[in-house]
Amino acid sequence: MRLELYKAVDKTPNMKDYDSVYESFQWEDTFDHFSWSKTGQYNMAYECIDKHVEEGYGEHVALKYRDKNVEASYTFKDIMIESNKAANIFRNQADVTKGDRVFIFMNRSPELYFALFGILKLGAIAGPLFEAFMEKAVTDRLENSEAKVVITTNELLNRIPHNKLPNLEKIIVIDDEVNASNDVLDYYEYYDSADETFDIEWLKKDDGLILHYTSGSTGQPKGVLHVQQAMVQHYITGKYVLDLKEDDVFWCTADPGWVTGTSYGIFAPWLNRVTNVVFGGRFSPEAWYETLEKYDVTVWYSAPTAFRMLMNAGDELVHHYDLSSVRHILSVGEPLNPEVIKWGNNVFKKRIHDTWWMTETGAHMICNYPSMDIRAGSMGKPVPGIQAAIIDHQGNELGPNQMGNLAIKKGWPSMMHTIWNNEAKYNSYFVDDTWYISGDSAYKDEDGYYWFQGRVDDVIMTAGERVGPFEVESKLVEHPKVAEAGVIGKPDPIRGEIIKAFIALRDGYETSDELKEEIRVFVKEGLAAHAAPREIEFKDKLPKTRSGKIMRRVLKSWELDLPTGDLSTIDDD
Ligand code: WTA
Repeated sequence: MRLELYKAVDKTPNMKDYDSVYESFQWEDTFDHFSWSKTGQYNMAYECIDKHVEEGYGEHVALKYRDKNVEASYTFKDIMIESNKAANIFRNQADVTKGDRVFIFMNRSPELYFALFGILKLGAIAGPLFEAFMEKAVTDRLENSEAKVVITTNELLNRIPHNKLPNLEKIIVIDDEVNASNDVLDYYEYYDSADETFDIEWLKKDDGLILHYTSGSTGQPKGVLHVQQAMVQHYITGKYVLDLKEDDVFWCTADPGWVTGTSYGIFAPWLNRVTNVVFGGRFSPEAWYETLEKYDVTVWYSAPTAFRMLMNAGDELVHHYDLSSVRHILSVGEPLNPEVIKWGNNVFKKRIHDTWWMTETGAHMICNYPSMDIRAGSMGKPVPGIQAAIIDHQGNELGPNQMGNLAIKKGWPSMMHTIWNNEAKYNSYFVDDTWYISGDSAYKDEDGYYWFQGRVDDVIMTAGERVGPFEVESKLVEHPKVAEAGVIGKPDPIRGEIIKAFIALRDGYETSDELKEEIRVFVKEGLAAHAAPREIEFKDKLPKTRSGKIMRRVLKSWELDLPTGDLSTIDDD
């Protein structure tokens, strides 16, 4: 069975020659693929699911799901019916209509995917919330987006402070034995009688699709809104970068709480009509290799931290599994170090392909392609249709090998449409209304390969997850013993960076290891486990500008043992 499947997937890359495709590509070339090119009406859920059923692929397996208790397989027709039922329940019981923000706060399960398509079929905007978020993180996001409905489970229900959220009308719990009330609904109470058909709400290309909250170096997390037309880029990068083809079995390891888990864990594979694998369990090297083997995964998309954890588990372990189905491996989220690529070459006999993009860009921007000569350590070259450049502070383009800010020419299909309720923030991303400024520093070599150098701002990438120092600092200072806190990313061999907090205590409190642990747990339980500082260092005072802003740059210099510069000349900002 395995060998048959492996042979069935044609190994010739979808993009046979990068240079010629890049030269001639127009986004319009892809439009024929979509039903809206004929009807003028958009809906992502239709293009991902219902269309395939209408075209005769209803029995094709769309989703293979496993966690430690459950294993299940769903066809495109199954997902069509399940999402129709969900849409009917959300409309009839919670009055969800076009443009409403409906959040999904669930751990990975098939129902999460059905619910998401149910939301999209109603023309509502889906907001995924990472399952590790605790009350404060959940509240901030629901408040900012004025969410109307949240879909959740029993376990996560008590993290939604319902009475503090005036716009939140209903919470729908998809679980066994739900304690229902006026505004907390039991999904399964309505499930059996829910209609299996649903008339999709047709939308325009600029209508909302998904709202992802992400972090910058200042302020609360911001809501990055993507719209329907993003599907153009999800589809074509699925084809050219992930190299998806008929009969592929694709596994993206990211959680749908983050953009990789939606753009590439949901949209790209299903727009390309492949079988999509979802693993709902906790990471373990054994469970991951087992998943690759068991489902004959052919295309695998993961992240450097995960690869480094697998690498740490040793090469011997890999040989216990038959991974011969895997033909294409990709990585995203942090720098992919050449050492990891070398390890991949040794154990999988495959090159790991790096991809670069951001929540705001919605889809791949700079990548390595199966047909391209790749240079270990480089993020690759721009996706066809994307114009990238390295620019200076004034927006001037820099030449080869000069380091600057990585920028993308405005106007690609999956570009964020706005920052929710914050037009000024949205505008601040662009220079001269021409360039989108990524905040990553990089250079381009003579041959057009891009090389990542670091973040320009204080954003922390820990284990591939993007954490804003401000959100962590705000939580830290809520602790009754903390007077001031400054948070930085400290380089770490496995996680890329870990979160380190410098803390000055209020008068009268003694430093101790127990207090460090108490503060760590406070952030973990109040904000999110992945946002809790792994290291804490107490200081009498923290370095500040004259206006009182903590200078993270100085904290970083302390940490890295670098000169701090002349502190007396630092301007107020
Ligand atoms: C970082 C994740 C180095 C970068 C899709 C970017 C990378 C931030 C790479 C966005 C890569 C992403 N090499 N760094 N291949 N890919 N990054 O919004 O700093 O969670 O700005 O999106 O991740 O993180 P976000």
